[in-house]
Amino acid sequence: MTTAFDPLDLSGTRIANRIAMAPMTRSRAGAGGTATDLTAEYYAQRASAGLIISEGVQPSAVGQGYAWTPGLHSEEQIASWRKVTDAVHADGGVIFAQIMHAGRISHPSLQPDGGLPVAPSAVAPEGKAFTNDGFQDFVAPRELTADEIRATIADFADAARAAIQAGFDGVELHGANGYLIHQFLAPGSNERTDEWGGSVENRARFAVEVVKAVAAAVGAERTALRISPLNPYNSMSGTDTAEVYEVLIAGIEPLGIAYLHVLEAVPEVREVTADLRKRFTGTFFLNAFTEGPTDHRALALIEDGLADVLTFGALFLANPDLPARLRTEGPYNTPDPSSFFGGDAKGYTDYPAR
Ligand SMILES: Cc1cc2nc3c(=O)[nH]c(=O)nc-3n(C[C@H](O)[C@H](O)[C@H](O)COP(=O)(O)O)c2cc1C
Repeated sequence: MTTAFDPLDLSGTRIANRIAMAPMTRSRAGAGGTATDLTAEYYAQRASAGLIISEGVQPSAVGQGYAWTPGLHSEEQIASWRKVTDAVHADGGVIFAQIMHAGRISHPSLQPDGGLPVAPSAVAPEGKAFTNDGFQDFVAPRELTADEIRATIADFADAARAAIQAGFDGVELHGANGYLIHQFLAPGSNERTDEWGGSVENRARFAVEVVKAVAAAVGAERTALRISPLNPYNSMSGTDTAEVYEVLIAGIEPLGIAYLHVLEAVPEVREVTADLRKRFTGTFFLNAFTEGPTDHRALALIEDGLADVLTFGALFLANPDLPARLRTEGPYNTPDPSSFFGGDAKGYTDYPAR
């Protein structure tokens, strides 16, 4: 029987186990949205993961949604990631970059020239943005034109090329948690009446086109997608449905991408997960819903056949040697939420390994 500690062939790249580090924004980028020496140390400490998925990285200046997040759209940013990928590879790890366009989950103070964030439609999310000046109310975003949608898809492809140039083994496209790709999928944030909104086929189109463009740019074997069906986070509550994911999977299935990553934000979604697992014939990553941070109790889902790889967020943040600790069912260092976003080495590179 396959267990979480068995290796896997991920589209031609051998990963040492089926325990992956989930993508986590840490808001500690250097000047100009660059990766720093500390970024390299943080990820290298976690190289015993079968796969590390990086924090969300913006593909363009308008894609930024939070203070101090890094990008992959300037020469300086691309060069800065090389020390991260080199450090992870030197320790035997494999690392994908998560490409994240936040869409309306942003703020003018984070945008070039203080402009409005962009989105499928001018529908404001509820809540507050995390800016350089603390939390500020979200604003109604500006609706993207059809030409800008095409340009945004090209930005994803350019950022994917940049990621490979910087030494990443592949890219994961962030289609979860209410950010731009998810905003196109759900009618609550997408009120368009052109080919990018309305029917499920039209709402799925942006996600499918981004995956296709990125696969064409860097190879399907280096392209992955993260989704979170029925996730209420970031004002998506009650607007997302399972149907659009069937169309999305049908659209990307023939491409043969590296993996599909499903994030279960609510317990009711398990049926949808099982359905997607059947529909998607490639490698299936799961960030399983659990009470509290995902821990060793999720490992059985691999033995049950629900997933090929499990991803762990908060516990990987707090336990650089997480695979070894999962094997012994703990004990675990406790994650400290006060140092999740922003700051320095404290709560970043100072969690001890055993
Ligand atoms: C500090 C922090 C930052 C996160 N940032 C991201 C992100 O950039 N991209 C993303 O897809 N998910 C992000 N997430 C969600 C995690 O990937 C994961 O889905 C979530 O933490 C639940 O898994 P867990 O119970 O193992 O922590 C973040 C979570 C945390 C705790």
